[in-house]
Amino acid sequence: MSLGRTRGVALQGIEGALVEVEADLERGLPKIMFSGLPDAACRQAPDRIKAAAMNSGVPIPNRRLTVNLSPASIPKVGSGWDLPIAIAVLAAAEVFKAHVVDGIVHIGELGLDGSIRPVRGVLPVVLTAARLGMTQIVVPAANAAEAALVPGISVVPARHLRDLVMRYQAIGRGEQPELFVVDRAVAPDDVVVPDLRDVVGQDEGRLALEIAAAGGHHIFLSGPPGAGKTMLAERLPSLLPDLEPAQALEVTAIHSVLGALPTSGALIVRPPFVAPHHGASMPAIVGGGSGFIRPGAISRAHHGVLFLDEAPEFKPGVLQALRQPVESGEVVVARASGVVRYPARFQLVLAANPCPCGRGFGKGIDCSCSPRARRDYMGKLVGPLLDRVDLQLQVRAVSRASLFAPGGESSAQVAARVAMARGLQAERLSNTPWRLNAGVPGPKMREGFLKLPASATKDLERALERGVLTLRGYDRVLKLACTVTDLAGGGTPNRDDVGLALTLRAQSAVAA
Ligand SMILES: Nc1ncnc2c1ncn2[C@@H]1O[C@H](COP(=O)(O)OP(=O)(O)OP(=O)(O)O)[C@@H](O)[C@H]1O
Ligand SMILES: [Mg+2]
Ligand SMILES: [Zn+2]
Repeated sequence: MSLGRTRGVALQGIEGALVEVEADLERGLPKIMFSGLPDAACRQAPDRIKAAAMNSGVPIPNRRLTVNLSPASIPKVGSGWDLPIAIAVLAAAEVFKAHVVDGIVHIGELGLDGSIRPVRGVLPVVLTAARLGMTQIVVPAANAAEAALVPGISVVPARHLRDLVMRYQAIGRGEQPELFVVDRAVAPDDVVVPDLRDVVGQDEGRLALEIAAAGGHHIFLSGPPGAGKTMLAERLPSLLPDLEPAQALEVTAIHSVLGALPTSGALIVRPPFVAPHHGASMPAIVGGGSGFIRPGAISRAHHGVLFLDEAPEFKPGVLQALRQPVESGEVVVARASGVVRYPARFQLVLAANPCPCGRGFGKGIDCSCSPRARRDYMGKLVGPLLDRVDLQLQVRAVSRASLFAPGGESSAQVAARVAMARGLQAERLSNTPWRLNAGVPGPKMREGFLKLPASATKDLERALERGVLTLRGYDRVLKLACTVTDLAGGGTPNRDDVGLALTLRAQSAVAA
């Protein structure tokens, strides 16, 4: 009897580390020793492995078995450790030559009959293995398509432990069994995405949405029930460009960790749209759970849109918790089982009625709420979130007349302008860490990229002097104006661009 060794990958968030899986079979009374921070599911691996090996025709000798997973400090979570541990044990039992499996990475759960079952998180595991220079990884056949999305590593899909044993025995004899080829899946293109063409009227709303899409600005839509806020918000993703390859892999990896990939295993190439219900729990929205820490809605919205409809109805704690990811683009979830980071760089869309009764206030509007109730309602959003929201728009109900007006542009038409405007920003910001206007810090915008003539900023200066606008608000208007100009073909914003930005910015009841 000897030592068997192979590799596995331990995930923390969607980042991973290579783990050496060692098994030692010694003479002595049957006993299993386990070391290296296995969780409950991982610790049960030897039971499943014994049955699976028996049913694959390669029973494991009844001896003293030691399994070691190193480095010991990283938690090993879930049933995906069955396969690497089984392969290390079978190598120790000399079922095949030990050196054959030394440098191969394995992931998969074993059924008692020896079948290899799919697990969550295969894509980030394969990404890690490839990044760390591993050349071959064995994955459950049902996960092969997502594994094959990763370039630079060969993927061996496996259905049954017996097949894998025969394969390693053949390699040990000097044969070269063929590598199974996994085709890259192609994304189905029959998904129906709501189109801007369906929205009647709402010229200002459409314009705001276009600007938000072009500059990456967070947006807040307030207005009476039925005005079309939800409708507009749902159409933001249709204006955004496809994800870049690295972004697509990241987004797909998050869905892989959740076990939420379509069986086709196709790469997610469109920006996701995630709209959690306001009653959703903190872990559901920001991530969490006991044992395996799941990514929440904000991570599912990574590189896409997070839509909080009826925003003031969300739990205050949840709204507070969004502040950190909105600033840093990632969320840190701490639990007894450890600290996990998930990416969460989303574009935020908030929608709300102007007051608890929903009718809103102003001339000729019959609102029954007290001034205090109105203030408290919006106040829930102010501190933590609205600070970061460049666009704050009042959406009015559509008039009867505009219901019969000719239809507006389609999403594709607007998306073309958005792509052009994003191109201009990428060029202007090419030597900076930022890609879109919304991301540029205010002072950098004022001093570095935008030297506006006094004629352009006259109205802004006045608003600042009169105290209508804070300096922070001033910076936000500048960023918006910049996006307005980019959408019109670029150059330096003029007085009209700044004026439009000022209008789109200052409408909200709570504008700062
Ligand atoms: N501008 C519009 N163009 C076409 N249909 C509209 C428009 N505005 C509203 N509607 C119709 O009214 C319905 C309700 O709109 P939507 O849900 O977007 O309103 P809302 O502002 O989100 O209201 P609430 O405050 O009640 O959530 C839509 O499903 C749509 O059928
Ligand atoms: Mg709505
Ligand atoms: Zn009211």
